[in-house]
Amino acid sequence: MAGMAVLDAFEAAAQAFERPRSAWRKWRCDRDICDGLPHDQWTFNHARPQQQIAPAGDWDIWLFLAGRGTGKTRTGAEDMARYGVGSPGVRCALIGPTFTDARDTMVEGDSGILAVLERYGALRAVNGWNRSLGELFLTNGTRYKCFSADEPERLRGPQHHRAWADELGSWRYADAWDQVTFGLRLGRKPRAIVTGTPRNTKLIRELVEREGDDVHVTRGATFDNEANLAASTMATFRRRYSGTRLGRQELYAELLLDTPGALVTMAMIDAARVKHLPDAGLDHVVVAVDPATTNTKDSDETGILVVGSLHEDLYALEDCSGKYSPDAWAREAINAYVEWEADALVYESNQGGDMVRQTLVTTWRAMRAKGLLPDLPEPRIVAVHASRGKRARAEPIAALYEQGRFHHVGALPKYEDQFTTWVPGIDAEDSPDRMDAGVWAATVLAQNFSERVGGGRFRSSA
Ligand SMILES: Nc1ncnc2c1ncn2[C@@H]1O[C@H](COP(=O)(O)OP(=O)(O)OP(=O)(O)O)[C@@H](O)[C@H]1O
Ligand SMILES: [Mg+2]
Ligand SMILES: [Zn+2]
Repeated sequence: MAGMAVLDAFEAAAQAFERPRSAWRKWRCDRDICDGLPHDQWTFNHARPQQQIAPAGDWDIWLFLAGRGTGKTRTGAEDMARYGVGSPGVRCALIGPTFTDARDTMVEGDSGILAVLERYGALRAVNGWNRSLGELFLTNGTRYKCFSADEPERLRGPQHHRAWADELGSWRYADAWDQVTFGLRLGRKPRAIVTGTPRNTKLIRELVEREGDDVHVTRGATFDNEANLAASTMATFRRRYSGTRLGRQELYAELLLDTPGALVTMAMIDAARVKHLPDAGLDHVVVAVDPATTNTKDSDETGILVVGSLHEDLYALEDCSGKYSPDAWAREAINAYVEWEADALVYESNQGGDMVRQTLVTTWRAMRAKGLLPDLPEPRIVAVHASRGKRARAEPIAALYEQGRFHHVGALPKYEDQFTTWVPGIDAEDSPDRMDAGVWAATVLAQNFSERVGGGRFRSSA
């Protein structure tokens, strides 16, 4: 069995690092049915059957679609470590949504390749790790190189024996995947392992459709890995996703096709999606913030969306949303404002709006005082007055999507998930944070922009 041969080579190689066998943290056990918890000679948690080494069969792509925290990254790292140690001199590509993801998660992370090698007592297999270049060398001549899906052009050219793509559904440019597959042409059987939560993107749908042909699909749910997740992590997942449609994707790895009743479909977003900013530039850019702390929603994330306009069209430029402390979200929004040379910061004035404005102003001044900002006048801060219901506010923006006038530059995965799965009147009263931020930004831009916020601060003077 081919899988066995690789395993033997790996274990033989690991043994050569002179560690007692007992120090190894073998990944795979031989039971067909195993929950991955300690049993028999296993004193530690190990792979469940769905996570075990690459499945047998003639596949070219192993697609591991699973819920948040299921052990997707760990599975990819185990596979790549095993392959790289067991096959001297191979070239492997590690591609994350960003270079930082590839470096910090796929190589250095708690589930990354280095942690895996360490668990095997095989860290001596590492000859060098250049974290600025993202290159990991093994003593047997194997090389792993980190790439970013944000920079597809860097993937043009290099050839590989094997590639690992993490969070493929969240890649900004589908091109990057094409480049990965073009570059897979070394050795007898170049292969890719793809790990991630499923998202309703063209790419994921196409790969799933190839199931049984050249693609082997494995699925898993968050709860399968509950034994290995911190209680706080599980609590966060439950709070964020339970009872939502998105939870079926994020926790149970269901590939959600169009949501009945959602205001916007992925097909609308795909149809208007562009790769680059318009050549003519943009008339205006705003950064909208929907802070987690100022409202009552369950979510613990702050929505921060950068949106631009050119004539009658809108361009979603960047989603900087995330989980931030109170002054961190303001810094994040201000940094986006400076980087994108935006015309205004936008927020919704209803709930705790004064606090939002105040936090932005105070943070701006503090950043100025610390020399963290270029020499700019204080930003214009625009309030959106949200007097009507959530649905009424989102509908005109949904209409722009329907008309093909709201373009996404590349993909903004989490924002798109929220907009395409939120159903007014069915989901929680509150709409999700990223979507809200997008709606505020688009509202300001779509309404008579120049009247509301004046001419472009940078653009008009440039
Ligand atoms: N079979 C296992 N035995 C022990 N620990 C495991 C196992 N599988 C995963 N883990 C651990 O569970 C945690 C979550 O795994 P991992 O980061 O791979 O999940 P993920 O699905 O990539 O999560 P995310 O959705 O956040 O990207 C990590 O600490 C990982 O080392
Ligand atoms: Mg992961
Ligand atoms: Zn077992």
